[in-house]
Amino acid sequence: MTVTINRLEIENVKRIKAVKIEPSATGLTIVGGNNNQGKTSVLDAIAWALGGNKYKPSQAQREGSQVPPTLKIVMSNGLIVERKGKNASLKVIDPNGQKGGQQLLDSFVEELAINLPKFMESTPKEKADTLLQIIGVGDQLAELELKEKEIYNNRHAIGVIADQKEKFAKEQEYYPDAPKELVSIAELIQQQQAILAKNGENARKRQNLANYQAQLDNQTALVNRLAQQLEEEQAKLSKLANDVAIAQKDAMDLLDESTAEIEANIAQIDEINRKVRANLDKEKAEEDAKAQREEYNTLTTEIEAVRKEKRDLLTNADLPLPDLVVEDGKLLYKGQEWDNMSGSQQLMVATAIVRKLKPECGFVLIDKLEQMDQVTLKEFGEWLKREGLQAIATRVSTGDECSIIITDGYSEENPNYESHKNTTAKPSWEGGF
Ligand SMILES: Nc1ncnc2c1ncn2[C@@H]1O[C@H](COP(=O)(O)OP(=O)(O)OP(=O)(O)O)[C@@H](O)[C@H]1O
Ligand SMILES: [Mg+2]
Repeated sequence: MTVTINRLEIENVKRIKAVKIEPSATGLTIVGGNNNQGKTSVLDAIAWALGGNKYKPSQAQREGSQVPPTLKIVMSNGLIVERKGKNASLKVIDPNGQKGGQQLLDSFVEELAINLPKFMESTPKEKADTLLQIIGVGDQLAELELKEKEIYNNRHAIGVIADQKEKFAKEQEYYPDAPKELVSIAELIQQQQAILAKNGENARKRQNLANYQAQLDNQTALVNRLAQQLEEEQAKLSKLANDVAIAQKDAMDLLDESTAEIEANIAQIDEINRKVRANLDKEKAEEDAKAQREEYNTLTTEIEAVRKEKRDLLTNADLPLPDLVVEDGKLLYKGQEWDNMSGSQQLMVATAIVRKLKPECGFVLIDKLEQMDQVTLKEFGEWLKREGLQAIATRVSTGDECSIIITDGYSEENPNYESHKNTTAKPSWEGGF
């Protein structure tokens, strides 16, 4: 059940001499007056009555008063809250005459509702956390933010390595005309051996030719010497001539292959392999850099997904005011951060948030409402009514917007209070002062 204030009577608290107020059940009740007349003292007294002794003013009793403070507040649920006597001790009585205490009050009094500055002065993060607590997504959002931060840090580390690797790859030398693979010396020696073997065979054939040639020479000499043997030797000669012809043909196209190139390659092998290694290193570095960059991009996608999840979480949440959101751990109202909101916007946002903190608490105390102009006041009052919320506010003014005027510690109903003409009847309440 939502509890509001039906009536209050305060005497001798701070600047107050005697104040009686019956605030509107919902909407705005403005306690007006000039400076130093006791307006804020009224709110301080209510906070003390409902919030407990930690809200007791340092100088609670009015100076010059022989009588201790008395406070009496009648709540809409029929509870009567009183402080009186020498120790201003608390007395809470329910409609059935049963006694209660501070604990009973705490069950429906929201601390920030009687101490709005506590919210207004909290850090941007605390404000955002309060709102997240209300809409019940604080834990999920914190988890998502942690996750986002983790991936973000991870991506940053990967990005740094990717940059380094890309730079390293770029700086590597590259030889476009070097072989693709490392050259093996064994293979070159094998090729050399094969050529040498072939050349050996050629030498053998040449030797063969030389042998035949020698025999022919001998034989010719023999023919010369042994003319008489010419006839018998003629056959030998023919045969040998024939052999020579064959051998000659055999040897005719022989060509020795050069090993110079291979020898040169052997000499250059270190240089070639240095280049091959350099090329391989560069390729590897480029691959590394590419893999790193791909991982970076994957992490970017992940971060965006988490951010979307965060946005969705807040978009789907039940927020106290339209256009009020949490972004990056900060409250934003109509796109503006707290310090960029106007004073009246800050009051509205604070009230809206406090309203949701404890639904049982149907009232909120607001000091220094002069930051709102007449139009904003009216809109604020209408919004409060729609929310079923009662606001008791002070304002340095004696204008028609004030239902009560405080002068020298005394309250007076404002006969010119503009809403008197069209207010709905006040709810009936039991008890009284
Ligand atoms: N125990 C006390 N006895 C008498 N006067 C006090 C006591 N405590 C505070 N005051 C005085 O009350 C005055 C402030 O009262 P209060 O804050 O209620 O005024 P206000 O109407 O809200 O003024 P403003 O418009 O400047 O905010 C100060 O002059 C202060 O010295
Ligand atoms: Mg004041």
